[in-house]
Formats: sequence, structure tokens, C-alpha cells
Amino acid sequence: MSFKETARETAFDAISSKSSALKKGYFKDDMMHLVSKPHPQSKDPMINRGTWFRIELFQQFCTKFLEIPNSQILVLGAGLDTLFYRLNVTNLFYEVDLPEICQTKAHKLGFTKQSDESYVMPNHPNYKLVSADLEDDFFGKLGIDQALPTLVISDVVLSYLESDSTVELVEKLGNYFSDLTLLFFEMINPHDAFGDTMIYNMSLRNVFMPTFAEIGYLENYQRQMKNIGCQTFKQNAWTCYNKWPGRSEIEKLEWLDEYEQFQLIMEHYGVMAGSNKSGINVLTTIFEGIGQIQ
Ligand SMILES: C[S@@+](CC[C@H](N)C(=O)[O-])C[C@H]1O[C@@H](n2cnc3c(N)ncnc32)[C@H](O)[C@@H]1O
Repeated sequence: MSFKETARETAFDAISSKSSALKKGYFKDDMMHLVSKPHPQSKDPMINRGTWFRIELFQQFCTKFLEIPNSQILVLGAGLDTLFYRLNVTNLFYEVDLPEICQTKAHKLGFTKQSDESYVMPNHPNYKLVSADLEDDFFGKLGIDQALPTLVISDVVLSYLESDSTVELVEKLGNYFSDLTLLFFEMINPHDAFGDTMIYNMSLRNVFMPTFAEIGYLENYQRQMKNIGCQTFKQNAWTCYNKWPGRSEIEKLEWLDEYEQFQLIMEHYGVMAGSNKSGINVLTTIFEGIGQIQ
């Protein structure tokens, strides 16, 4: 398999972690059973807790952002995730992923083919799923309004792109949308012992993460966002998790033995957000008490 094909397969890993956390009651989702295996495997409690945080982060941030009038969301590398249904909104919502993943998602969720490259949902006219490679020029395929307040999210996706592609993509987003907000959850700190192990373990499955390995640091993401005129927030996922509302409630769901291992994993994921306009208030509200907006 090529590197792109193995990166594509991680969509199934992500949904299997999400389904495990769902099964244990970490969050609610009425649609995920349609995209996951019938009997999802139970994951380690630390994976479930980390997944809960990922779900909460995107759900709360998106919900707050969508309060901005006429706002829209663009999801990069959406995989099989069912975030759109969890948000339960009517705003414009675009998802992009590689063609095979879009085809699978469309089939499982009953979307209709609109063209060779896009799918729509019969009952949600504002939703569109677009087949595209994020490393190509894909904005034209979206048919998206450049002037509306736009939130672009990446939930462990940029890490798999060539580092030049990630830098170029952030730059292009900054040029394309006049009112832009970004929220990225990505792997960070590649060059310590645990980072090396992450890279090695994934390489055993022929999965490569050039952006993570070459530029996967909070400061690099922040610099890119600042370069396109954003005010920014950056923090490792461990710090965010420990200050996130609701954490003590979900920690009652399962006993966790390997606390140090959990901390180590979470210190290798980062939350990076930025906005050049309407979303600045969202950053301030969501990350209040967790870190500075700079
Ligand atoms: C780890 S999965 C995450 C999926 C989803 N964001 C989630 O959290 O459930 C990474 C996703 O990025 C997509 N991806 C990787 N490289 C891509 C590329 N060059 N263009 C478009 N999508 C890509 C994969 O197909 C996969 O769906």
C-alpha cells in the first residue's frame, strides 16, 4: 500500500476509538453505529478518556462558533466521523477526505452522489461531502463562500500530510477566507523518546506522518497561524484535558491504572487554534482558564 493509502486507513482507527468510548458512555451519538463495526472492540480506558477530550473539544468549539450568524464549518480529513449529526445544526457544513473514504461514508450514511467528486445528504441541504486530496488544490471543488465566517478543523489529519503541504494549506486558507478560524488537534513533540516510539510504531504499519515528524510542535503551528494574521491559542492536550469541564465526571466511568502513560500520550497531542476575526471571542470563551490568547 502507498503512504496515502495507509494514511487513509487511519479513518477506521479513529472511528474504532470513538465507537469504544461511545459504547462505554463517554458521549452520545445516534449515528455512529452506522459507520462503525457492529461490535466495536473495547479500548483501554486511557484511549477512551483521550477520545472523550477530542470529541468534547471539537463539539464545544464548533457549537460556540456556530452561534456566529451565517457561519460555516469545513472539516479537513473528516474520515467517518459523525460530528455533523452530533452538532445537530443547519449551518453550511463541508467535509473533505480522500475518494475511497468519502465513498464508504456516503454508502454507510445514505448520501446521494451529486457529482464525481461530491455527495449530499437527502434531508440536510446544507451538508456537502467532497472527495479531494488535501495536498492538491481542492478549494475550487468545494463551492464554498469565501466571505462567510468559516471554521476549518483538523482532527489528527495534518500530521499525515507532507510538511510543505501543511504549511501551504494554512497559507492558502488564510488567503482564501476573509473571516477565518482554525482548530487543530494534532500530534506534537516528535523528537523525544515517546515521539520516536510513536513514529516507529506507525512505520510498522507503513503509516508515515511527515508533518508530525518534521514540524510537529505547538510553536510551529502557532507561527503559521500568526503568519496569516490570527490571534492564537496553543496548549498540549494534557493541560487542556486537566482543566476541561466535565473531566471528573467521565473519570468515574472507568478505573485507570496507567496514569503516567496516559499523561505521556496526551503530552504528545496539541490543541492549536487561531482566528483573524469573528472567532476570536470563541477562542477566548472556550479556552478561558486554560491558556492565553496571543
Ligand atoms: C486519523 S484519521 C481522522 C479522521 C477524522 N478526522 C476523525 O477524527 O475521525 C485521518 C483522516 O485523514 C484523511 N487524510 C489523510 N491524508 C489525506 C489527504 N492527503 N487528503 C485528504 N484526506 C486525508 C484520512 O483519509 C483519514 O480519514
